[in-house]
Amino acid sequence: MKVLVATDKPFASVAIDGIRKAVESAGMKLELLEKYTDKKQLLEAVADVDALIIRSDIIDAEVFDAAKKLKIVVRAGAGYDNIDLKAATAHNVCVMNTPGQNANAVAELVFGMMIYQIRNHFNGTSGTELKGKTLGLHAYGNVAKNVARIAKCFGMTIYAFDPFCPKEVIEKDGVIAVESVDKLYEKSQFVSLHIPATAETKKSINYTLLNLMPKNAVLINTARKEVINEEELLQLMEDRKDFKYISDIQPDLEALFIEKYPERILFTPKKMGAQTAEANINAGIAAANQIVGFLKEGIDKFRLN
Ligand code: 3PG
Repeated sequence: MKVLVATDKPFASVAIDGIRKAVESAGMKLELLEKYTDKKQLLEAVADVDALIIRSDIIDAEVFDAAKKLKIVVRAGAGYDNIDLKAATAHNVCVMNTPGQNANAVAELVFGMMIYQIRNHFNGTSGTELKGKTLGLHAYGNVAKNVARIAKCFGMTIYAFDPFCPKEVIEKDGVIAVESVDKLYEKSQFVSLHIPATAETKKSINYTLLNLMPKNAVLINTARKEVINEEELLQLMEDRKDFKYISDIQPDLEALFIEKYPERILFTPKKMGAQTAEANINAGIAAANQIVGFLKEGIDKFRLN
């Protein structure tokens, strides 16, 4: 049995060592395709593999067509909007993710970026502090839970809106559950996005919603760039000189944001939130173990299709 790790954004080598150990000790072979630049390389590499570990790599119908022996794809991470689930099902391929495994890494970067931004990009002028400020969590999944844990230590007041998460789950973490998305944005000087990119959420973070935020608003996006209406956000930043946008995902209109508001934005390259050795180890080895469990014993916990 062959397991391929195909990652445009590679794991730390220590994570690959752990993945290799998990795969080889189950009597399987590990292959690597890292930093590929052309989809053709991916199509060739998947031709004879039984299992695939990926990150944000696009796995569409063409990839499933090319992967004749493929039985399972594990997205080492949370979001799976990069995988065509219908095509996977049509090709009889099981798809899983590894929820929670990289959440702390993303949450820590939220604070790294917030502090860099409110300390004026470390330019030596007086910035501001997080203590005593309000933070809104838009959706309350694994990353948001970790953000809440850390925000409490900073002395922030934390709100969350998540129609899919029971109020009790939110409130037992010391977070105030609000009943509408508008309320969340009205109350929060900082809003951190934790929604997936779906047909419903795409471009849903728009001018009207963001304009509800109080003075000196900071929007933090470690979710997906697709959820932002970028044209409307640019307009809002034109109309509100107090509004800041920081993200670990470069927006499609990045050049315009940089040209117009260099002091009020921060973008890290290639979605860096989950890019720590620890997150790579956690998510990568979980993915390898899930593959071994599925191929050897048919265990399909975390199956998505
Ligand atoms: C996720 O969905 O798990 C995160 O966005 C991390 O994505 P990455 O594996 O491409 O860093």
